[in-house]
Amino acid sequence: MRAPWMCSFFFAFFLIFSSNASQPDYVASANVSTIWTNNESSLRSINFTDGSRMRVILISTTGLPMFTCGFFCNGTCTSYLFAIVTNLFMVVNPQVVPLANQDFPEVIWSANRDHPVRDGATLQLTATGELVLKDVDRSIVWTSNSNGQSIAGMTLTQDGNLGLFDVDNSMIWQSFENPTDCLITGQKLFQGQKLIPSVSSTDWTAQKDLFSLQITNKGLVAYVESNPPQVYFRKLVNGITPKSYIVFSDRSLCFLIDRPSYCKSVIDVPPAFPFRYIKLMPDGHLKVFGWGTYNGKKMVADLLTGPLGNCSYPLACGRNAVCTDNQQCSCPSSGSPGADYFKAVNDSQPNMGCSLVTPHTCNATQHQHFIELKNVKYFSYTADMEYVDMETCKQACLEKCSCKAALFEYCSNSSSGNCTLPSELFTMTKVDASKIHLNTSAFIKVQNVTSTPSSKSRATILGPAIGSFVIIVIMSGGLAMFIVQKKKRDDEIEEEYLDQVPGMPTRFSYKELKTATENFNKKLGQGGFGSVFEGTLEDGSKVAVKCLHGLVHVKKSFLAEVESIGSIHHVNLVQLRGFCAWKSQRLLVYEFMSNGSLDQWIYYGERKHVLGWECRKKIIFDIAKGLAYLHEDCRQKIIHLDIKPQNILLDNDFNAKVSDFGLSKLIDRDQSQVITTMRGTPGYLAPEWLSLNISEKVDVYSFGILLLEILCGRKIFDRSQPQESWHLLCVFQRCWEQETLMNIVDEYSEDMQVNSTEVMEMMKVASWCLQTDFTRRPSMSTVIKVLEGVMNVESNLDYNFSYPRPQETTNELEIKSSNPMLPSILSGPR
Ligand SMILES: *[C@@H]1O[C@H](CO)[C@@H](O)[C@H](O)[C@H]1NC(C)=O
Ligand SMILES: *[C@@H]1O[C@H](CO)[C@@H](O)[C@H](O)[C@H]1NC(C)=O
Ligand SMILES: *[C@@H]1O[C@H](CO)[C@@H](O)[C@H](O)[C@H]1NC(C)=O
Ligand SMILES: *[C@@H]1O[C@H](CO)[C@@H](O)[C@H](O)[C@H]1NC(C)=O
Ligand SMILES: *[C@@H]1O[C@H](CO)[C@@H](O)[C@H](O)[C@H]1NC(C)=O
Ligand SMILES: *[C@@H]1O[C@H](CO)[C@@H](O)[C@H](O)[C@H]1NC(C)=O
Ligand SMILES: *[C@@H]1O[C@H](CO)[C@@H](O)[C@H](O)[C@H]1NC(C)=O
Ligand SMILES: *[C@@H]1O[C@H](CO)[C@@H](O)[C@H](O)[C@H]1NC(C)=O
Ligand SMILES: *[C@@H]1O[C@H](CO)[C@@H](O)[C@H](O)[C@H]1NC(C)=O
Ligand SMILES: *[C@@H]1O[C@H](CO)[C@@H](O)[C@H](O)[C@H]1NC(C)=O
Ligand SMILES: *[C@@H]1O[C@H](CO)[C@@H](O)[C@H](O)[C@H]1NC(C)=O
Repeated sequence: MRAPWMCSFFFAFFLIFSSNASQPDYVASANVSTIWTNNESSLRSINFTDGSRMRVILISTTGLPMFTCGFFCNGTCTSYLFAIVTNLFMVVNPQVVPLANQDFPEVIWSANRDHPVRDGATLQLTATGELVLKDVDRSIVWTSNSNGQSIAGMTLTQDGNLGLFDVDNSMIWQSFENPTDCLITGQKLFQGQKLIPSVSSTDWTAQKDLFSLQITNKGLVAYVESNPPQVYFRKLVNGITPKSYIVFSDRSLCFLIDRPSYCKSVIDVPPAFPFRYIKLMPDGHLKVFGWGTYNGKKMVADLLTGPLGNCSYPLACGRNAVCTDNQQCSCPSSGSPGADYFKAVNDSQPNMGCSLVTPHTCNATQHQHFIELKNVKYFSYTADMEYVDMETCKQACLEKCSCKAALFEYCSNSSSGNCTLPSELFTMTKVDASKIHLNTSAFIKVQNVTSTPSSKSRATILGPAIGSFVIIVIMSGGLAMFIVQKKKRDDEIEEEYLDQVPGMPTRFSYKELKTATENFNKKLGQGGFGSVFEGTLEDGSKVAVKCLHGLVHVKKSFLAEVESIGSIHHVNLVQLRGFCAWKSQRLLVYEFMSNGSLDQWIYYGERKHVLGWECRKKIIFDIAKGLAYLHEDCRQKIIHLDIKPQNILLDNDFNAKVSDFGLSKLIDRDQSQVITTMRGTPGYLAPEWLSLNISEKVDVYSFGILLLEILCGRKIFDRSQPQESWHLLCVFQRCWEQETLMNIVDEYSEDMQVNSTEVMEMMKVASWCLQTDFTRRPSMSTVIKVLEGVMNVESNLDYNFSYPRPQETTNELEIKSSNPMLPSILSGPR
């Protein structure tokens, strides 16, 4: 019943766009000596549904969600950012297709948020390897400072990292290392780097003087700027070294203290959508946003909220204001009528804060006194004085010109409490003393109208302050140098360590592989992981050499993975013969499969020969055995995550072998050691990807799709068909309902028609593998038993091939159930 609607919804996506054939395909990388002009005629633009617009320079053409980089603007478009935007689009060159009826763009990085440029601005990747952004008047707005480092080109990876790479494919400069206010899954934040929010959702300018999130040698710290900065959130972590960093993984914000130790969770993030990013918001909140493929953008968690709830944010009620439970804001009051020292900044907006009626002056301390607010707590995490009494605390504030309040806390003995003397007073919180078991008071410094002059000089205050500032600058400079040098040293050590790992598949030098492939001349394919080249080793054996993209860091884990992949031997798995890890290059050397990948053999119109039923059966059997081995017989279970015809290779005798196993893990490892982001190819993705409930059954699902394709001789998604038949699952479901399944079997193969009984049995296997509820799918060893005829396909299968939906609003439920299947052409042969 749902099926027809599901199909029509899906078609709508493709009708929105009309192809403009004159413009070039979208690309993910560019070469040096390229210049892009920010105008309508020289760049393709994408208009997003929220009114923002992107003039596209690069697009990451594989993976979901998609990343685009280019000139971005919103609304009137008088100013532009050079930015990376992520959204639920995908590229079907030369078109861009939204995945849902909204596209949810989000700027996750920008180069020039403090200096937007105008129409006619240029971005240039110079011959000397620098990325230069110039405004229309030719003034330089931003550069990557990568001059003279032999840059070969620029690329936007499928993880959303914009990088400048050199001839060795090393990332010399990358946007991941220059964060603005977001971290996306896998992105790291090192000591010395900060997240700084923008002013608002429409004003991109960085709020340099307000909030920041940083890694210090103690842990993760969120500051509100003042002099000195005040901590409003802190998670202490033991054993931090200068190399420690934080990474946003799927399940947590976690700390890597020291490679290769595991990621230590600092803040857990509730499981939700496959793709997520965190963003430091203009109000100091650190929010996690998640994207389901069809349900759009949602806030998943608010990470920094302390025990005081929403009031624990420094600007919950603005400056000098008091916040009660429900984020009700008020100004401090002396209690006596007619003597108010504070007034609201804007009476109609109490959360804008309060200001002093008479500002403090340092030469009038004799006119200063305090108003006491009982049971008022301040967010700050550190005390300026400990174990002091209340009078000492107040006196210290009076004596310190910059002090705005004496905040005093004690348990039962008021002569032994903690005293905080902030130089700027942000939001305070009214608390219930009996609940927090603490006596806490805020003594707020106020001043009567002054008249008497004072002899106190500014110099005595400023002198020491400037002195210590200079010292801090010198010290942090020294620390930075120390970090840089230490990093260099550590990298060298790692390089040595690498050469000594025993028990590995053959290690080739880069030169050897360059020679073997005749300088990477004969390309066999290209995909998300990298390009594959044909080569001949010195011993005359042919190999396929895969150059992996985007694996810059973490050599040790690369080697560990290579070792584990290399140790797997099975006749139905493509054997890894060796590897190369040189500088940033990561290459894998596989046995050569002379008949190429399965996709060249099964689709009508594209295939070299029509394979007969016995041959197809054998191929299916082979794939099943390869997968069963990965899932059940390996020392460590391996989930492939990207089963599709392009990853099934055929040798001379049409023995099928599964290739690229273990690679998803490798890529994920490289990013953060704990991440499982959404991987794979649209069209072959199991529905439970939406809930991140990933098991080996996702491979079983992809295997089911593959089975259908083999039996029907067509692609899962085929636009050359009439619209109602674009998606094979749609057709399959419809034919099952009408009991005309034989109609979809490969009509160009007489052999298939002749063997209709067996083919129909195989259809049942496919349906079983495609069950929406993954627990109802068979294991691969069960599939083998069925193929061998010792077991039967379960009866009572569910032929309603739509995805499960998380229960939310009915409105969204409809969108989700519509399940727009995607074309499988997104990621080519790997
Ligand atoms: C970059 O240069 C290489 C060869 O140097 C060429 O194959 C490729 O097409 C170029 N890419 C672009 C986007 O111009
Ligand atoms: C857009 O930029 C290109 C390249 O600089 C230039 O040739 C063209 O005239 C510009 N078009 C408009 C409408 O300004
Ligand atoms: C996007 O919007 C602009 C301004 O409204 C328009 O000039 C342009 O043609 C649109 N581009 C596309 C691809 O729809
Ligand atoms: C564009 O501006 C609108 C409001 O003017 C805002 O809702 C939307 O989030 C902005 N889009 C982006 C991508 O920043
Ligand atoms: C904080 O405020 C948000 C709305 O701004 C509200 O949804 C949430 O429930 C509040 N949290 C607490 C703990 O009061
Ligand atoms: C106070 O806030 C209101 C509502 O946002 C605004 O219209 C008004 O201009 C503000 N007044 C001042 C003095 O800023
Ligand atoms: C300030 O003014 C208040 C009320 O006007 C008065 O009670 C208080 O004594 C004055 N304090 C000083 C230090 O002058
Ligand atoms: C005072 O501060 C110390 C350390 O900052 C803390 O351990 C202690 O609990 C605080 N005491 C009170 C009464 O807040
Ligand atoms: C309170 O603390 C002070 C100093 O630590 C101590 O001298 C005094 O005896 C304490 N009073 C009580 C009632 O415990
Ligand atoms: C607050 O202090 C009083 C004495 O000044 C004491 O009796 C009371 O127990 C304290 N309250 C808490 C919650 O510690
Ligand atoms: C106190 O210093 C301020 C400047 O900081 C000055 O304007 C004011 O006149 C001084 N007041 C007296 C009483 O000297």
